[in-house]
Amino acid sequence: MDKELLDALNIQLNREFHSAYFYLAMAAYFERENLKGFAKWMRAQAKEEADHAMKFFDFINERNETVVLKPIEVPKQTWSSPLEVFKDAYEHEQKVSHYIHRLYELAQEKRDYPTQVFLHWFITEQVEEEDQTLQIVELLEKAGDNFAAILELDEQLGSRE
Ligand code: FEO
Repeated sequence: MDKELLDALNIQLNREFHSAYFYLAMAAYFERENLKGFAKWMRAQAKEEADHAMKFFDFINERNETVVLKPIEVPKQTWSSPLEVFKDAYEHEQKVSHYIHRLYELAQEKRDYPTQVFLHWFITEQVEEEDQTLQIVELLEKAGDNFAAILELDEQLGSRE
């Protein structure tokens, strides 16, 4: 595989683990705030991100290339409100989509067709990730300072498997 593309895949593997860390920090914040439903949602999200990282891990191995594990960036760990947390999550997902798209363009430039096909899953997934975080931002904006509405949302998000 082209060296530049392999490096970019390894960087994205690392970014997905950073995403897992980021959501885990958010889960810890919600645990501290006693918002157990939000915490559960974030914990499930962190697990999904680790799965995303492992998809890159498996793909690189399947291509008989070398996985390179680098240090994981320390995430932000404090927020002032649930709304601020989800705004960060949405912004983060937009950034991830951007990275996935750049990676896809690089795979096209290098004419690496298997990588292009591999990335299709992530392109679709990012649409969902952005959509669901934005939906929660909008619901939290509507809830405002109404704690009963926030608790209702907490219960709703807690039903995530
Ligand atoms: Fe791995 Fe939330 O994107």
